[in-house]
Parts: sequence; C-alpha cells; structure tokens
Amino acid sequence: CGIIACVGSDDAVGELLTGLENLEYRGYDSAGIAVQNGSGIAVRKKAGKISDLKDTIASDVPNGSVGIGHTRWSTHGPPTDDNAHPHTSHTDEVVVVHNGIVENYESIRRQLEAEGYEFQSETDTEVIPHLVEHHLDRGMDVEEAFKTAVDELDGSYAVALMVDGEDKVYAARQDSPLVVGVDDDRFYLASDVPAFLDFTDEVMYIQNGDFAEVTPENLVLTDREGNVVERDVEEVEWNAEETGKGKYDHYMLKEINEQADSLSNTLGGRITDDGDVDLEEFPRGTFDDVDHVEFIACGTSYHAALYGAQQLQRTGIRATATIASEYDTATVTEDTLTIAVTQSGETADTISALRAAQDAGAETVAVTNVVGSSAAREADHALYIRAGPEIGVAATKTFSSQVATLTLLAHRLSQDLEQGTAREDNEEFFAELQNLPEYIDEVLETSTAEAVGEKYLDKNSYFFIGRDNEYPVALEGALKFKEITYEHAEGFASGELKHGPLALVTPKSVVFSMFTGENGEKTRKNAEEAHTRGADIVAVTDDADSVHEFADTVLHIPETHPDIAGLLANVQLQLVSYYTADLLDREIDKPRNLAKSVTVE
Ligand code: G6P
Repeated sequence: CGIIACVGSDDAVGELLTGLENLEYRGYDSAGIAVQNGSGIAVRKKAGKISDLKDTIASDVPNGSVGIGHTRWSTHGPPTDDNAHPHTSHTDEVVVVHNGIVENYESIRRQLEAEGYEFQSETDTEVIPHLVEHHLDRGMDVEEAFKTAVDELDGSYAVALMVDGEDKVYAARQDSPLVVGVDDDRFYLASDVPAFLDFTDEVMYIQNGDFAEVTPENLVLTDREGNVVERDVEEVEWNAEETGKGKYDHYMLKEINEQADSLSNTLGGRITDDGDVDLEEFPRGTFDDVDHVEFIACGTSYHAALYGAQQLQRTGIRATATIASEYDTATVTEDTLTIAVTQSGETADTISALRAAQDAGAETVAVTNVVGSSAAREADHALYIRAGPEIGVAATKTFSSQVATLTLLAHRLSQDLEQGTAREDNEEFFAELQNLPEYIDEVLETSTAEAVGEKYLDKNSYFFIGRDNEYPVALEGALKFKEITYEHAEGFASGELKHGPLALVTPKSVVFSMFTGENGEKTRKNAEEAHTRGADIVAVTDDADSVHEFADTVLHIPETHPDIAGLLANVQLQLVSYYTADLLDREIDKPRNLAKSVTVE
C-alpha cells in the first residue's frame, strides 16, 4: 500500500491524486482521499484504480488545503469501497490512512465492538481511528490519544491521521516507510519519495518511533516521551520520471531489495511467541478430513510449490507438486487438498487445474498475492502471501513470500492431518524463519553477484544444481536466468547431472552449485564431476573453506537452518541473473515474449 498526505496546498486534492498515481506501483486495487474542507472531513474512496477514484470525484471535487490519501493492495478483506482507505471512526471525527499490518487487530476490534464502536470494513486498519476516538472520548488530547493508540498496535505501520476541524496531519511509523517532502509553504508525507517528486526534492526520512505533527507552517517530530527529535533534510537526486523504481534502474532490482520487508509482512502475526503457527484463515481442525495434498502451479510458483511439497513431506504428509497444465485428477478423492500457488491468481493453466480439482471433489486452497483474484474467489479457501505488488515480469519477492507462506501452511497442516507430525526441530526452525528478513538484508548488502555476472559473461551455458530444498531453487535460478538474460540456462537435481546433462558440460559452461542443505557432500561430488570437464563452478554456500578445492567463485550466504537456506541462495541467484541481464543490456522488467500473468492456456 502507499500513503500520502499534503499539508498546506491550495490544491490538496490535485496533489494527493498525483501523489497516489506516483505510488500506484505500491498497490492498485482501491484508493481514497480525505480533505479538511472547512465543514468537516470529506472522504472519497473507491475500489479499483486511481483513475476510477478520479472519475468518481470529477463531478464533485472536495475543496481543502490539508488532506491524506491511500492506494491499497489488499491484505485483510477484498478490494471494496468499504475496505478502501481512508478509514473513519464511528463519529467520523478521526480519519486514518495506514500502510502495514496491525497484527493484533482482532483483539482490539473485539474490545472496541464490545464497547459499542461500530465497524464498517473488514480491514485491520479500521481499529486505528476507533482506538484514537476511544482515547479522545476518555479525555485525552489528540496527540496523547494518537500516541497511546499507536503504542497499542503490534505489527508494522506508517499511519497518517486527521481530526475534524484541525488543519493538521499526525503521523507515526514502525517498520513501514514514511518520508516527508519539504516545500517552501507546505509539507508532504508519503510511503515513498516519488509520491511528491513532482513538487519537491527536499526530503526528510522519519525513523521508527518518531511522531510527526504537521501544519502548513511547521513540522515537529517527537519521540514517545515528547522530546523533540531532529532529522536532516536531504536533496534527492532522482527525478519524477523514475517514479516507482526510485533509486533502482529496474523494478526487478527494487523488488529483490524489498524482500526483507515483504517477508516481514508475509510472516507478520503468523508465528506465535512460543513457536506455533497462527493462520487466521485456518483455525485448527480446518483440514481434519484431508489425507494428502496436491500442489498445482506454473513457472516460478511451481518452484515454490515444489519447495512447499518438500516441507509437507518433512512432516510426514503425502504431498506432490505438479505443473498446472499437466495436472491429472486421477488421484483426487474427497480427502484431497489441492493447493493452487499463483502470485497473480489469474494464470489460466492454474485456474483450470483448480476447477478440475474441485469438480473431482477436492477441497481447495489458493495461495496468492492478490486478494479477490480469480483463484482466491474460486478456491474454498484463500491464503495471502502479502508480498505487495510485483511489477517486474520475473517473479522475485513473491517466490520468497510463497515459500515462507507454504512453510507456515505445512506446519498448520501437520497439526490437522492424522499422519502429520511436528518437525523435531520446530522451535529452531521457526526462530530461524523469523530471522530470514535479517539474513536476506545481509545477503543484499554483501553480495558479489555483480562481479560474478561479469566474470562469466562470455560463457554459453549456465547450469544450476541443487539437492533437496535446493532442487527447486536450482530450477528457479535457471528459469530466472533464461527469462531475463536470454542465455541458455538449465536447472537440475544435482544427482541427475551424471544421468545425461553432464554431456552438455564443457569449459564454456558455468555450474552454479548450492551447498546450503544437508546433502552438501553429495552435491560436492556432482560439482566436482562438472569441474573435471572444465566447467567453472560457482558455489553458493555458508562455508567457503569446504569448497575451495573445486569452486572457482563463492557466493556467500549466512548460516541458517537448511530448510531456509534455499531462500538465501535464491536471492544470490536472483542478483546474478539481474546483473548478467543488465550487462547484456536486456529489457529486464519486460523480457521479450513473456507476460507477468498468462491468462490463456
Ligand atoms: C508467467 C510469469 C511467471 C510466473 C507464471 C505463473 O509465466 O511470467 O513469472 O511465474 O506466469 O504466474 P502466477 O501468477 O500464477 O504465479
């Protein structure tokens, strides 16, 4: 989602709408604005694109100089007019836009509903205006009510709030981005700089825990205790044309770099303190009748599905992953759970397999990034990966979020299914899963993938091998590489190299080999065989010493649980593909012949 506020413009509505258009890459399933118009706060919101919102208000543009706006990418509740932001308290006195996830919204909502506060949407956000009003009702001033409410929220948020009659915007952030745009006679607040680059290039980055109180004349930042904090104003060097990509040359690189954040969103509120999985979509017992699981998916999602099937098998559950266009319902019974994994929720092959499974009597789940998508609507249940919109055709952050979501689902299923057993190392596994965003940041900060791409630019074949969890990662590494570099790339199970593909290996080949799981010794032998045939070996590993005899180059990843390491290896491979394609001057975000979502079979 993206938020914006404009404080002090003659044309707040026009500037909010421009800002939202510049933030549309952050979400585009519904949008809304609210402005102080002198006799109250005018709220206009609409499911659909920002152009739909514009059409709706064209005949009745609210007037005002202070306002907030939001473009949504749903996580709780489908894209409807009611679920669109801004959200208001029940007397309409408090109006809020929010980006992030309020993890404890259900308990806050229950408590407020018990006190008579009436909710209008299914969103987590709506608890915020009600909570602020609740504190106002108890005599607090706005600043204290806002700070107290924000203190009560678990999760991540960037919030902008207005109160009826005050030409002011209050804002706060925790783990969701919020920047200030500083102009001569006005201020902007936004999730990202491009929102206001048409108007100013002077920015100030609000830090976690900062509270902002903004009037047209003044911006005051304080901490929770009320002490004033100072943040520097900087000039940004990029221009408005680059909008959504920000400082990155391509959406793909931006999305690769967003993975720590997107994964935090995926996992947020879904793992309890004692290491249990809490999926609000699936209370315990939802899958009591299931006896085996069949995953269906295409492309990158298929590789995530393979990874997911392996996670289920670890817990004793029979699970298969099949390419959706190859799905055969012969093994479907009424005890089958068919899980469609699809980022867009619109892939025709996947939808068609999903329908076939339903016709054959299976219970179905859609694991998707798009709330209200066809897959989400048609399946019996939907589970959202919460990765935020992905613009680059080559899927990156959504793969990581799919795998993370499927590992959670695997745990949940292991509790319901009769043959399911908890993993022995449950506690360690979930602790490490929660550390994943941190490890990904470490990979992003230290990666030498650009140099690796350059070093092997003149090779003519790129192979990717891995065993176990790293097998789907090898397939995904090769798919990414071929999609955006147009070079010949193939992924294999390490053990299969000797059963045929080895014939292709020459001194003009590079073999990316993953030593991240538990079967490093076996993969080592496979890589050595390729090395003997003259190929260069790039080892992806947390232990460079163990591969120095045969590896030409090492891509380092932090040490973690073997079932999670594959995701870190994958980030390195994403970066290698990206930089190689960039050096070859490919059209990275829109590779030839490919589409983000393929809606024909
Ligand atoms: C297209 C895209 C791929 C994607 C596949 C499945 O082929 O180019 O990147 O993995 O569709 O898409 P889905 O939306 O179902 O995950």
